[in-house]
Amino acid sequence: MSAINYSEKIPNNVNLDEDRTLRRALEHWQPNYLQWWQDMGPEGSHDYEVYLRTAVSVDPQGWAQFGYVRMPDYRWGIFLNPPEPGRKIHFGDHLGEDAWQEVPGEHRANLRRIIVTQGDTEPASVEQQRHLGLTCPSQYDLRNLFQVNVEEGRHLWAMVYLLHKYFGRDGREEAEALLERRSGDQDNPRILGAFNEKTPDWLSFYMFTYFTDRDGKFQLCALAESGFDPLARTTKFMLTEEAHHMFVGESGVGRVIQRTCEVMNQLKTDDPDKVRAAGVIDLPTIQRYLNFHFSVTIDLFGADQSSNAATFYSSGLKGRFEEGKRTDDHRLKNDTYRVLDVVDGRLVEKDVPMLNALNEVLRDDYIRDSVGGVERWNRIIEKAGIPFRLTVPHKAFHRRIGTLAGIKVSPDGRVVSEAEWNERVREWLPTDEDRAFVASLMGRVVEPGKFANWIAPPVMGINRQPVNFEYVRFN
Ligand SMILES: [Fe+2]
Ligand SMILES: [Fe+2]
Repeated sequence: MSAINYSEKIPNNVNLDEDRTLRRALEHWQPNYLQWWQDMGPEGSHDYEVYLRTAVSVDPQGWAQFGYVRMPDYRWGIFLNPPEPGRKIHFGDHLGEDAWQEVPGEHRANLRRIIVTQGDTEPASVEQQRHLGLTCPSQYDLRNLFQVNVEEGRHLWAMVYLLHKYFGRDGREEAEALLERRSGDQDNPRILGAFNEKTPDWLSFYMFTYFTDRDGKFQLCALAESGFDPLARTTKFMLTEEAHHMFVGESGVGRVIQRTCEVMNQLKTDDPDKVRAAGVIDLPTIQRYLNFHFSVTIDLFGADQSSNAATFYSSGLKGRFEEGKRTDDHRLKNDTYRVLDVVDGRLVEKDVPMLNALNEVLRDDYIRDSVGGVERWNRIIEKAGIPFRLTVPHKAFHRRIGTLAGIKVSPDGRVVSEAEWNERVREWLPTDEDRAFVASLMGRVVEPGKFANWIAPPVMGINRQPVNFEYVRFN
């Protein structure tokens, strides 16, 4: 079951050749997907041969094979983790019942919505990142960008498979619509806010892959608990790929910081202007980028109180992060959770029914997880002997969704007046000038083993290849 058949037009481990209707539907969607990749995939890259990993099995050991691939020829396909015999639903009202192999009629609309919302993020990020190859800081980084892009493409395939197989005609229509929306488009944007933001430079890209791909991890973890077994199995396999995306982000930001610290020590300065004049990104700018990406990403978890979240959980569609490891009753009918509220313009805590607060529960799990990498970035700064610390902003900072959207809060969690916000927002969020400065550093470095001045080389290459390996053949 775990072996992937690459001799077929659509590589898969789901016995696609036994379901001719489904195979035909997917083969009909495939050219549209490839056209989307031509139009919206990495700009100018279609003839490059890229040293990419491709899944050859879903076994935890050795699922990846590395080799040069032209990206339009990447073997996108459909891979599910093997089924767990006798798997039961382990939360919500259906706790203890057999996991569903088909979509239960009463949950059909909600499940479709969950799958479409997840699916929409995958091509969105490819669109957001499509110009970055033109300004890559190295071949190593260019290759990592492309690896992330092809895997997001495969994640789209994963969701489209579910739509085609389990949702009939409306599933097929949703699959087409996933290729029609465009990140940032006025008339037909992607579904979620953060996926309509620009990713205009590589610092944004690393922040995005650290923070926003990590949102992906948490959403996928919650869906991997689903009572709808095909969704659980496909998201489990997607998670194996997501780890690399977050690595690209964490190590990328780390390398930017390291290079900045080296220059600060060489010049014996912490003056942002002097640091910038030396062609590296000053730490306060890095902090502002962090504030931006963190705050737009935590909005992705949705409103802090949500009856949809309660429904998705109680009906067994979407669990909590690490549901199986928790020791409560997995029904949560009598539990409460502490959320932030705004009363008379001030932040106060209040207890609300846990089921309604499950978006907040997932957001808080996410926040705990994302703080870890920020601490590792701080160790780089500490090691360099520089008295500066990066912090994640308060969760009420710069929010556009939920209760906290209505107020202005500083990164350290103080409610501020409109006037103070306007006066100080330049210290807290990237300014046009910051973005223009970062953009001015983005040149294209493609000689093997060479790196742009503003970023340190990685410690190791990909797949134990040397750092100066030819990761991309430009032809
Ligand atoms: Fe993804
Ligand atoms: Fe990702």
